[in-house]
Amino acid sequence: MKHYTSVDHIEDLDELLLLAKNIKSDPYTNQSLGKNKTLGLLFFNPSLRTRLSTQKAAANLGMNCITMNLNNEGWSLEFEDGVVMNGDKSEHIKEAAQVISQYCDIIAIRSFPGLTNKEKDEKDYVINSFVKYTSVPVISLEGATEHPLQALADILTIQEYKTKRKPKVVLTWAPHPKALPHAVPNSFVKMMQLADVDFVITHPQGYELNPEVTKGSTISHNQEEAFKGADFIYAKNWSNYNDYGKITSQDASWMVTTEKMELTNHAKFMHCLPVRRNQIVTDAVLDGESSIVIPQANNRTYAAQAVLTQLLKNGNK
Ligand code: CP
Repeated sequence: MKHYTSVDHIEDLDELLLLAKNIKSDPYTNQSLGKNKTLGLLFFNPSLRTRLSTQKAAANLGMNCITMNLNNEGWSLEFEDGVVMNGDKSEHIKEAAQVISQYCDIIAIRSFPGLTNKEKDEKDYVINSFVKYTSVPVISLEGATEHPLQALADILTIQEYKTKRKPKVVLTWAPHPKALPHAVPNSFVKMMQLADVDFVITHPQGYELNPEVTKGSTISHNQEEAFKGADFIYAKNWSNYNDYGKITSQDASWMVTTEKMELTNHAKFMHCLPVRRNQIVTDAVLDGESSIVIPQANNRTYAAQAVLTQLLKNGNK
């Protein structure tokens, strides 16, 4: 693995999961691997889990961390080539990325999509500009189109909680008052396509994700039908992909409730967090025994540590 900005960059999922499991059972086993190495954490958007778990993962490996909120602490960056920089942008990504890569051995970036220009978002231009101009590995802390660290924690959690060889996993759209990106569902879909699971996506008609991502996956517009026999329910909102970035449904009947969970095979409830209570899922489900959102968030550390371990080992070859 050279960079980890997409689930597509995983070379061997079983190997990566075994590494994450071993790290979880002994997080400090490789404390010298990151000695005298620096991880740069660059945030263009807010974060709780990603920021703290990745810092903790780096600390477990003996790495130093430099964290910067680029939107309000750094110079405003220009990403277009060949422009006359006579506006509000002070620094070009070409210099910024090269400079940062002199200070850091690995750079990790969070940059959400604008959700107004589909073509621009699909290029994931912020993260890919760093990949283009840095000389060090780049990790996505959630880009415009993917959240691969989240998806690795998700499959690690499914592996831990599954009670049969090939569990049924359902990704369900749920309503939300704000337009949300497609990064989490995209990476989750890609991860489920790699994993040995019976996978179903359910969403209202018109809420199709990128067909390039979902091709080959089963899609149902009947949420209750999809829930039947499920072992895992993964709830997530996303904005309309076809009518790009718009909210075209806030249908409360898609919220995950106790009644719907009763259709499942005693399914575990998952969500990447943060989650809006009584919008996405009822209090009763989120606070109930089926919810595994807290251990799911705990696995963010071991997923990040597994990826950092692979990148550091590659750098030492
Ligand atoms: N799930 C997740 O990425 O959480 P944060 O946005 O808090 O980092």
